Parts: sequence; structure tokens; C-alpha cells
Amino acid sequence: MEHNLPVNVREYQELAKKALPKMHYDYINGGAEDEYTLRENIAAYGRIMLRPRVLVDVSKIDMSTNLLGYDIPSPIIVAPTGAHKLANPEGEVATSRAAAACNTIMHIQVLSFGSSCKIQEVAASCDAIRFFQLYIYKRRDVSATLVRRAESLGFKAIVLTVDTPVLGRREADIRNKMVFPPSPNLEGLMSFNDDLGTGGGSKLERFASETLDPSLSWKDVEWLKSITSLPILLKGVVTAEDARKAVEAGVAGVIVSNHGGRQLDYAPPAIAALEEVVKAVAGAVPVLVDGGIRRGTDVFKALALGAKAVMVGRPVFYGLAARGEAGAKHVIEMLNKELELAMALCGCRSVAEVTRRHVLTEGDRF
Ligand code: FNR
Repeated sequence: MEHNLPVNVREYQELAKKALPKMHYDYINGGAEDEYTLRENIAAYGRIMLRPRVLVDVSKIDMSTNLLGYDIPSPIIVAPTGAHKLANPEGEVATSRAAAACNTIMHIQVLSFGSSCKIQEVAASCDAIRFFQLYIYKRRDVSATLVRRAESLGFKAIVLTVDTPVLGRREADIRNKMVFPPSPNLEGLMSFNDDLGTGGGSKLERFASETLDPSLSWKDVEWLKSITSLPILLKGVVTAEDARKAVEAGVAGVIVSNHGGRQLDYAPPAIAALEEVVKAVAGAVPVLVDGGIRRGTDVFKALALGAKAVMVGRPVFYGLAARGEAGAKHVIEMLNKELELAMALCGCRSVAEVTRRHVLTEGDRF
């Protein structure tokens, strides 16, 4: 079996599709409405070409970088995605171990339908740098409790997701009447599950409409800052306008993301939005990007367009579904290897040497 290991993310995706019940695969893989943004997230990377430099001594490649003061061996980070027990019975504990084994950063999300292991359990399972992904709920006290819990467990930053004041319309989930595993992190805080009634659509939709706060505004970023001293990364910014506001609001970083095409369909592909955000932020804080990264060359392109680091969501899920912890680890390792190769073949010995002049976008002249 081991000699037939997948050799790229797409092969892991195929295995995941075979391994999972359709409802779960659709939940992980799917996006909002026409899934245009979902497809474009990937396709847009395909329209960026590389400009390699030759005759550079590439016998040593250093992919390491520093994010918020933490040295990491590679700019590839695991994105916050929920309900890992859908992919593997060990859930987020397996993913965290996989990420820790690769020395990358594991974000634990606690979307209430989401993280299927208790964050205490994940924190205790292995040493890793962890950021905590947060939604601001109508019940601010619940969000505040989750922040305090993350602080006391040694999480290093809060990733505040702001592209979800209401839930995107994920038609596969609605059609499949998607049911989610219970959310142990909300035990005693907010109820979720059988008391949601039996209306149409997915349980996630009903949960989201009861708990997410559509009145969310920049004032809430201020509020979050007032209750925590952890650095805050804003996830879900895709315009220069919002990037400037984010810097003014005093966030420690901006994550260019359209939620993997699961929220606003026809939002720009993440890699196409990156450069305007990088320009607007003008070096004030690090800019990260996620959505559609399936190859090391994609990571290279994101770095060239100004990202400090990238996050990968579905690929890790595919690895977890196909081969558990070993699969998640292998996916991260493969992406790291592919990035190393892309850097070598482009003549870049460190991430600092990856520049705008190493890529050709559609907006550039040939
Ligand atoms: C997500 N994503 C996400 N983001 C977030 O801030 N909170 C969340 O709870 C979730 N949940 C979630 C579940 C699943 C199954 C997926 C696939 C994604 C979005 C995620 O953090 C990230 O933005 C995208 O996954 C990036 O796109 P790729 O790498 O999946 O193409």
C-alpha cells in the first residue's frame, strides 16, 4: 500500500472522494451557488506564469520565514476548517499532530458546528504554534469566553473571520440536508443540534442564522481588541479599501481570502485580490492568502505577489480523509517539497529572493 502513495494533492482529492460519504465530500469540497469563485481560486493560479532565473547556485534552499515573531520553516500554514472528524475519527487532533510534525502552524477553528475535538484536547495532544479562529456571535459573551479559553491554552493569535456575517449558500449541503457532528467546544455555552427544528436546508444554515451576527462591523474589531492582548489577524479581506481600514483598526495581519469560495460567489479569486491588498497595506502588517493553493508553484506565485505566508484548507482535509494523520502530514510535506523545487528552478534561495519579477500575471505585458 505505502509504495502506492499519492504523488500530489489532486491524487489525494481522488482518494478522499472515494473514502468519504458523498454528503461529507460535498461539504468539504463544495462552494457557494455557481461555485464560480471556487473554480476561479484554482484557475487564476493557472494564468500566472513564472520567470525563472538560471545559473544561480541553488544547492541550499531556505524556505523559512517569520510570522508575528514566530520562526516557521516554511510559509505554508494549515487553514482553519471545521469538522475534521468527518474525514477521520481522530479529527483535529490528527491534523494538529500532522502540522506539528511539519513544524507549521495549525489553526484551530471553533466554528460551533465545526471543530469536532475539544480545543483543550487538541492543545494537549502535541506542541505546536496555534492560532485561534473566531466568529463573533450574536452572543458576544460566547465569543469572549472562547477567546479567553484560547488565551489560557496558549494560542498565539486570533484569526477573526469577517467574510461570514451571514452564511453563503452552499447548495450541495442544502440538497444533501447536511448534518454536522456535535460541537464539543460550545458545550455549556450555546446549544447546537437537535433543538434546531426540522426546517428545510442544512443544519449549518439554521445554526448560522441563529448564531452569526449580521450586524458585525469595524466596531467589533475594536471590541475584540479591547478584550484580548493577542494579535488579531483579519481573515476575509479582498479589497484595498478594507485592507486600509484593517490597518487603521490596528490588526496584526490581513488574510486575503474568499473562504475557499464558500461565501460570496463571484468574489475575486484570492490570488487576483492579493496584490491590491499588499499595495494598500504597504508593509504595515503581514498579508497572507488562502484559496486554491494545490501546488508548490501556487505558493511561490503568492509569495511573489507579496504574501508573507499562505494557508491551505481542502488539501489537508483530503490527506486526512485518505490516510488520517499520515495523509495530512504527507500533503503538507509534498507542498513544502514542491515549493522548494519551484524556488530552486526559479533561482531563489530564500523566500526573500522571491520577487514580483519572478511572475507574469495577466495584467503584465509579455
Ligand atoms: C473552511 N473555511 C473556514 N474558514 C473559517 O474562517 N472558519 C471556518 O470555520 C471554516 N470552515 C471551513 C470548512 C471547510 C470544509 C473548508 C473547505 C473551508 C475556509 C478556510 O479557512 C480557507 O479559507 C479555505 O479552505 C481556503 O481554500 P482552499 O485551500 O480550501 O482552496
